[in-house]
Amino acid sequence: MNAAALAAFGGPEALAFGERPDPVAPPGWAVVELRAAALNWHDVLVRRGQYDVALPRVPGADGAGVRRDTDEAVVILPSLHWGEDDRFPSPAFEILGDHTDGTYAELVAVPEVNLMALPSGWSWEEAAALPLAGLTAYRALFTRGGLRAGETVLVLGAGSGVSTMAIALAALAGARVLVTSSSRAKIEAARELGADGGALYTRDGWPEEIRALTPGGRGVDLVIDSAGTWPQALAALAGGGRLVNFGATATPDATVELRRFYFGQHTILGTTMGSPRDFAGLLALLAEHPTWRPLVHATYPLDRAADAHAALERREHIGKLVLSV
Ligand SMILES: NC(=O)c1ccc[n+]([C@@H]2O[C@H](COP(=O)([O-])OP(=O)(O)OC[C@H]3O[C@@H](n4cnc5c(N)ncnc54)[C@H](OP(=O)(O)O)[C@@H]3O)[C@@H](O)[C@H]2O)c1
Repeated sequence: MNAAALAAFGGPEALAFGERPDPVAPPGWAVVELRAAALNWHDVLVRRGQYDVALPRVPGADGAGVRRDTDEAVVILPSLHWGEDDRFPSPAFEILGDHTDGTYAELVAVPEVNLMALPSGWSWEEAAALPLAGLTAYRALFTRGGLRAGETVLVLGAGSGVSTMAIALAALAGARVLVTSSSRAKIEAARELGADGGALYTRDGWPEEIRALTPGGRGVDLVIDSAGTWPQALAALAGGGRLVNFGATATPDATVELRRFYFGQHTILGTTMGSPRDFAGLLALLAEHPTWRPLVHATYPLDRAADAHAALERREHIGKLVLSV
């Protein structure tokens, strides 16, 4: 098969297109003929060598294609070996493309439990854009964050791949969505996805600006946080509000103003990816909204995976970058 693989860690050019051995499916696994794959920031970190990944490796967590053994059109759940406990993944948990060859390829082998039917009417590119970001956003919003229709959710960093999913899923579920971003243009783009408005996180005082967008300045019920700016995020929360974190884009260490935290009866939750049950919940929510599709910013052929990575690092996109296979 052909693949865009890493023989060494480095910049985008480390992704070399060429021949690799065909994957073999052990019992309980299946080989998928990929039609599209999608990029995540996680793939950049793998490429740079920031995870303990053995080389050579075909990276890529997201993909959609045709199961070789059954001819079914499938989308791939990239959480491998999550296990039966929905609270927490098993010790064997890994992300497809880290320690198992991933989706930047013509073929990939994955456990059968990780294959779900392609949503009806979706293109390969749309389906490939969904799994990692959609799953992470779904578990953060609903399984962990307990978001209900009518509540207000604040999504930090509207431009991120997971954030664009979170904005759309929260709006589909009947929540009111506010955002922060570094640019007015991205706040406008977030409106198109279903947000009501937002504030620039580059300005001091953005938590007060967000509070001013809520009735009586009470604050938001839930914050979806991949940035780690907790002092500001907690200042935007209503009494009894929840903050769900799954990233450290702005800072690896967050501080909490404890008096505000306990007087506010706040809850802070962590989350990562999601279980097969979370993915089934995501697909069920989307089945209720058959015209909704993930936002695909641009599509590159697989042999230009390096160009796609360079574009991801420029961070001018809103939505997903996809590889067609
Ligand atoms: N734990 C998990 O399961 C999981 C899964 C997926 C991603 N993640 C993490 O989630 C984060 C986002 O991932 P991604 O793939 O969606 O990344 P991405 O598309 O590269 O998004 C990065 C975004 O972060 C925002 N940002 C930067 N500084 C910020 C700040 N000070 N305050 C608020 N937002 C800020 C920017 O938003 P604007 O463009 O709007 O300014 C930027 O677009 C990463 O930290 C990633 O590691 C975790």
